[in-house]
Amino acid sequence: MSLELVVLVSGSGTNLQAILDAVAQGTLDASLRLVVSNVAGVKALARAEAASVATCVLSHKQFGSRQQFDAALLEVVRGACAEPDRAIVVLAGFMRILTPTFLDAFPRRVVNIHPSLLPAFPGVDAQLQALQKGVRITGCTAHLVDAGTDTGPILAQAAVPVLDDDDRDRLAARILVQEHRLLPSVLQWIAEDRLRFDEQGRPRFSGVVPAFLA
Ligand code: GRF
Repeated sequence: MSLELVVLVSGSGTNLQAILDAVAQGTLDASLRLVVSNVAGVKALARAEAASVATCVLSHKQFGSRQQFDAALLEVVRGACAEPDRAIVVLAGFMRILTPTFLDAFPRRVVNIHPSLLPAFPGVDAQLQALQKGVRITGCTAHLVDAGTDTGPILAQAAVPVLDDDDRDRLAARILVQEHRLLPSVLQWIAEDRLRFDEQGRPRFSGVVPAFLA
């Protein structure tokens, strides 16, 4: 089953690029309906345009509340999809917290990529948090989005060692390599209809091990 995807971005869009590349290479059976940025002029928008994917800028600054922004976002996303009740929304460096106004329209269908092994180091600058804490292994997590900050059910993780001479940027770059593997893989497993939920609501993928070791 080919997935309908809408990708939300705020910045450089390297995870978006990984999705675009996987679709182009045929390793991800999906069609990108729309890329939405809450910030104008970001590189992610240029990446989408270069791949002939429709784009839209919806600045949160135009709205008086999170709920109003989310309602407008919902309309844009639903309008872009042929089957909005099956589409997957991907947060790829999207720097906004979404409220139930948006999330309730896509139950278990909003996927985020975060640069730590959750539940460690949620929120901003997870790589710096990991360095400061002195952990020897960190990584990235693909998870379903709930109304908390990086608290939703974990889909898959990739581990990355922390090296003695790492600074924030070196560590972030090595984590990004794994993000770019993990996120398209998770989306492909969803496209292959492997995703199920156990009695406790935890995601389970049939036939694959959703854990990568760098
Ligand atoms: C990534 O590290 C992602 O995990 C985090 O924000 C960063 C976005 O990078 N949520 P990019 O915009 O995909 O290059």
